[in-house]
Amino acid sequence: ARKVTIQHLLDKKHSHQPITALTAYDYPTARLVDEAGIDIILVGDSLAMTVLGHDNTLAVTVDEMLHHTRAVRRAARSSFLVVDMPFGSYHTGTNDALRNATRFIKESGAEAVKIEGGASRAPLVEQLTQAEIPVVAHIGLTPQSLHRMSGYRVQGRSMAAIDALMTDAAILESAGAVAIVLEGVPREVAARITAASGIPTIGIGAGPDCDGQILVFHDLFQLTFAPHAKFVRTFGDAATLFRQGIEQYQHAVANRTFPSDSESYHLSTEVLTSFYH
Ligand code: KIV
Ligand code: NA
Repeated sequence: ARKVTIQHLLDKKHSHQPITALTAYDYPTARLVDEAGIDIILVGDSLAMTVLGHDNTLAVTVDEMLHHTRAVRRAARSSFLVVDMPFGSYHTGTNDALRNATRFIKESGAEAVKIEGGASRAPLVEQLTQAEIPVVAHIGLTPQSLHRMSGYRVQGRSMAAIDALMTDAAILESAGAVAIVLEGVPREVAARITAASGIPTIGIGAGPDCDGQILVFHDLFQLTFAPHAKFVRTFGDAATLFRQGIEQYQHAVANRTFPSDSESYHLSTEVLTSFYH
């Protein structure tokens, strides 16, 4: 597949071809996602939960995100590679934000960074863009705002909240955002933002009218150990596959049917003779 670029994503929006996006956090899964021809791989800070076992995304660090992004970079040949800037890495001032974003581009090979938040992030989006760092915006249900939102709630349900989201999207686009993730917003609102927007909208829990869709890899394959949100569709049951494989391995070792003779190394006939002598 050919290398996906920002231009390619824009072309897809304008020709009404759905943009496909999926998270990945390590080499083998990123290989599979890339080889399948998914347009965008996001190393999401959801990795705090999916692969590190935290309760929410807040604790994950820049160094942890870099570590995973480097592994994904080695696998991602065609997909456009985006990394989430984690909580705290762009909230303590512009210099910190620029320094951390620069690390993601330089030290992990990400092609864009994603930051959560609305119009208040526009000045930062502008500065990152001026520093040649493409920015994907993320509005609606922003998981890093967990405490302020008093939980994960669908956003943009009142007319005032809808107006605010529409304004956020427009201002972030003007500030230079190359795409915008719409999370946990009513289908109708996502459709209106998508129609008004010159940049691709990528939805998650935002209905089918966005320019693209994204989901969390571990949600797709039932690897999350928790009931999933309404917007998740599972496309396979890796948990059952792994569980069965682990049990079979366990039994094979317990029964001494693994390893077999053919799975063992042997001495050469020459050495064997003296070995048993
Ligand atoms: O962290 C993440 O996985 C995300 C996507 C689900 C949009 O931000
Ligand atoms: Na995220």
